Amino acid sequence: MTVANDLVERAESVAREGADAFSRAAALDDLADAERRFLGKSSALNEIREAIKSVEGSERALVGKAVSGARAELEAAYAARLEVLEAQAATLSATRDRLDLTLGPREYVRGHLHPVTRIWRELEDVFVGLGYKVAEGPEVELDWYNFEALNFPPGHPARAMQDTLYVRLGARESVMLRTHTSPVQVRTMESQPPPIYVVAPGRAFRRDTLDARHSPVFHQIEGLAVDEGITLGDLLGTIEAFIHALFGSDIEARFLPSFFPFTEPSVEFAMSCVFCRGAGCTVCSRTGWVELGGAGMVDPNVFTAVGIDPEVYTGFAFGFGIDRVAQLLYGVDHIKNLWDGDVRFARQF
Ligand code: DAH
Repeated sequence: MTVANDLVERAESVAREGADAFSRAAALDDLADAERRFLGKSSALNEIREAIKSVEGSERALVGKAVSGARAELEAAYAARLEVLEAQAATLSATRDRLDLTLGPREYVRGHLHPVTRIWRELEDVFVGLGYKVAEGPEVELDWYNFEALNFPPGHPARAMQDTLYVRLGARESVMLRTHTSPVQVRTMESQPPPIYVVAPGRAFRRDTLDARHSPVFHQIEGLAVDEGITLGDLLGTIEAFIHALFGSDIEARFLPSFFPFTEPSVEFAMSCVFCRGAGCTVCSRTGWVELGGAGMVDPNVFTAVGIDPEVYTGFAFGFGIDRVAQLLYGVDHIKNLWDGDVRFARQF
């Protein structure tokens, strides 16, 4: 056998051997090893090509052709196997990295309204449903609106320092944090003629020491109806209607005579306890009743102060604490829990 024939045969067998090794490579690492062995610098094929030098000139082409044929065959076999193994690896890693969705979704923690905001809005809804509009007023108020126009006589204890948080502005004790939402009555009556049907929810401030039921910052809702022919019966019916709407029609409303400078006659209203239904429990101090707020017929002096003719118009007003209602409905024993901002508390509602 000539040297050339021998080399051609070796090239062909290297090609077969290599193609076989490539196709048997089980993983990319094995394939890379085989590629180095059969196509690398010190591969048998390169040795054969080197050996061409020792072949007679006329036969060199024959060997060269066999070497390049073998190389092409090896490269094709390598590429084919590479494609297969790469696809396998991709599938494998996709399987390995797959998210396990069979456990169901994580809990999506969604916020909700603060209990006081919820009652606030429910109250607004009830009164808007009865035809009222929602009014607003400033939290920093003038003596005229907070006291004087509401018929608080000059020496009235509510004006004194122990109740009112004054602001150092203007004349002494002339500017204050409003002690109730009643000034919105005055502002409303000053700014529009009757008929007036408004509710004014908002913050109020007093120099109260914090205890289970009192906070220096609290929320009230004020109601005002001014029209021709409004009677005390309308007031009582309205209060009963909102108590039924908010707490259920089996909850009763009760009225007791009272006094407020801006209403005459004045009443205090209570509702039967939502927890014991009037039987008596710790929430209602065993009385069966829970005090809610004050109300009455708008005093003619208030009408005169705002320029409404008390001979033509009558009206009623009422006011009560929103926090109080929230505390009751949600069974919050200490008012500070409402304002601590502790999410463990807030999450319960
Ligand atoms: N402003 C009173 C308070 O803060 C509550 C109140 C009583 C409001 C009688 C009224 C009312 O409108 O007529 O204690």
